[in-house]
Amino acid sequence: MTSTPMPAPGGTEPVAAAAEAPGDEGLQKGPLVTPPPATATGVPMIAIDGISKWYGSFQVLTNCTTQVEKGEVVVVCGPSGSGKSTLIKCVNALEPFQTGQITVDGTKVKDKGTNLPKLRSRVGMVFQHFELFPHLSIIANLTLAQRKVLGRGADDAGKRGRDLLARVGLSAHADKFPGQLSGGQQQRVAIARALAMNPVVMLFDEPTSALDPEMVGEVLDVMVELARDGMTMMVVTHEMGFARKVADRVIFMDKGEIVEDAKKDDFFGKPRSERAQHFLSKILQH
Ligand SMILES: Nc1ncnc2c1ncn2[C@@H]1O[C@H](COP(=O)(O)OP(=O)(O)OP(=O)(O)O)[C@@H](O)[C@H]1O
Ligand SMILES: [Mg+2]
Repeated sequence: MTSTPMPAPGGTEPVAAAAEAPGDEGLQKGPLVTPPPATATGVPMIAIDGISKWYGSFQVLTNCTTQVEKGEVVVVCGPSGSGKSTLIKCVNALEPFQTGQITVDGTKVKDKGTNLPKLRSRVGMVFQHFELFPHLSIIANLTLAQRKVLGRGADDAGKRGRDLLARVGLSAHADKFPGQLSGGQQQRVAIARALAMNPVVMLFDEPTSALDPEMVGEVLDVMVELARDGMTMMVVTHEMGFARKVADRVIFMDKGEIVEDAKKDDFFGKPRSERAQHFLSKILQH
């Protein structure tokens, strides 16, 4: 429904049997990544300040304001069409917004002087449909942006790519193509690819909703590790088990507005708005 920065993996159906393929070593112990130190001190890692956005005459976001501190994990939920994807895409300038400002690690997103490719390299993003390059091997997917955007040499980029692939349990698949991996494996590659850029924050847009149920856990495990390593994360998801486990805060959106922005325990314990209560009662039934 909205634009994406990479081509879709057209025609690369996951290989059903690949989940049990030899060489899927599972997660390795140890930190997945050490987030680089913030360049700005004393300010939130992400500050979203009075964002409004329109598509033509349709207002998709209305005066959205929130902050994400360094190391915080914020889950964003809400009904379909409420603006969740649009909001997080504004954070790395994949979607423009008309009013308000977003600041990421001290850098203003909407500012003529901001180098957007550099900003995007510091904001990792993982999409529902992986968005791997289907014609490139897994290791080439992991090294391309490191080389093109960060100017790393082939050896450095390859080493970091292979290291991260090992951390997500997929070393044996480096020379395969995305279509030869299961959906869960492809999503772990997509996460490793984002991490290869040494992001200061990671944004996830329903990273498990396109997966077969048996593959959801392996992707959530990687995300839980990442949260425990101290990564700053905004995660659009309806996986309330994940939210209960690792979220610091939950944001509930409806009709383009942040209706609720609460500490996890408050959100699950006593959501204040009727809309949030209704939403929770519907998704928690299943
Ligand atoms: N490029 C676009 N042009 C016009 N309208 C759009 C565009 N992208 C999204 N919208 C509309 O904006 C609203 C919010 O969309 P968005 O994708 O952010 O919602 P969402 O909360 O992520 O929904 P979902 O849970 O279905 O992913 C929807 O009404 C959608 O139809
Ligand atoms: Mg969405």
